[in-house]
Amino acid sequence: MTATWKIQPHTVAKHEILRRYLQAYYPKLASTRGLIVFVDGFAGPGTYADGEPGSPIIALDVLAQHKHLPNMKGCRFKFLFIEEDQAHFEMLKTTVDSRQHPPNAEVMVRQGTFEEHIDEVFGGLEKVRNFGLRPSRPSFVMVDPFGVKGLPLDLLRRLADFPKTELLVSLMYEPISRFLEHPSFESPLDDLFGTRKWRDAAGLAAQDKKKFLSDLYARQLEGIGMKYVRLFEMRDARNRTEYFLAFATHSPEGLRVMKDAMWKVDQAGGVTFSDFTAPSRGQATLFGVEPNYAQLRSLMLRHFAGRADVPIGEIDNFVLIETAFRETHGKKVLRDAEREGLVMVERPPEKKMKKTYWGTGTDTRVTFPAF
Ligand SMILES: C[S@@+](CC[C@H](N)C(=O)[O-])C[C@H]1O[C@@H](n2cnc3c(N)ncnc32)[C@H](O)[C@@H]1O
Repeated sequence: MTATWKIQPHTVAKHEILRRYLQAYYPKLASTRGLIVFVDGFAGPGTYADGEPGSPIIALDVLAQHKHLPNMKGCRFKFLFIEEDQAHFEMLKTTVDSRQHPPNAEVMVRQGTFEEHIDEVFGGLEKVRNFGLRPSRPSFVMVDPFGVKGLPLDLLRRLADFPKTELLVSLMYEPISRFLEHPSFESPLDDLFGTRKWRDAAGLAAQDKKKFLSDLYARQLEGIGMKYVRLFEMRDARNRTEYFLAFATHSPEGLRVMKDAMWKVDQAGGVTFSDFTAPSRGQATLFGVEPNYAQLRSLMLRHFAGRADVPIGEIDNFVLIETAFRETHGKKVLRDAEREGLVMVERPPEKKMKKTYWGTGTDTRVTFPAF
């Protein structure tokens, strides 16, 4: 394989999600004034055929060009880029070395596998923990392989054990589905899923198989201790599922920021991107598409049916954690339902007349009709 390849629209979409997430993630964590770690475990060559930046360079650029960089001087950033292929590694290293990094950023580029090098940042943490301390260094770990090998769930389990780890994993659905019954895939799939249950997908119809395997992987990520998991489906130019981007975090705030990033890329549903329907480049905004409010309305009315005085914070949490939608979508549903007299909204006395006021926590309460 040559060291670079042509970028696909869904890769641009993946990079857009990463870029938007890191834009919000860096300054948020920088307020903790410690060490922030970004790992790209399958880093690639750092550049695509027409010069577009790869994920490691995007991670560096978001920091170097961040408008709040001057306010982030109090913390240190460590970037670890791991790449197995020699030509990809050399190309990445040359690009990284040719750039100027902020003084509080250290960049390490390593040749070898994710498994071999991940301990460079996590091994130390485990030692600290063995002394009885609970290290809480924020770490964003991206794992973006071509296939199914090299990212065993047991390894992710070790990383998930730290309370501030976030994972962005590409689950390579296309090869998984194509080779599901091939004997040479048995052992890598056992490692990847951390269970033998993936075998139950054999023989299922295409849609059922996809749902079964993507749900299974999401459940396995939850099973290793990641509290919130969201999948985003990437489709190729023939509209076939190529992979799922699986984001896993311990933090509702991380989930909120990632969902915002995903909704920017899929303005109709926040869950998928297809090269088949992608607008041509330079026309990244889709006009006229909007979230399926009817679906969210039905989910909310069903979930809260017959309940009185539900705090707005509980409704926000439901929308954020249990649905693909954003809290702002939930507010629009409530606003419309209030206008139609379907729900009753109790605002604090001083805000009684302000129908756009929702507040947070418990200061606004909503009463839902029986379903
Ligand atoms: C999909 S590409 C990465 C693309 C990159 N994340 C981006 O978005 O620009 C996957 C890369 O992982 C490398 N690779 C394959 N197996 C690996 C392993 N076990 N550990 C580290 N890198 C590996 C491949 O050589 C390839 O460059």
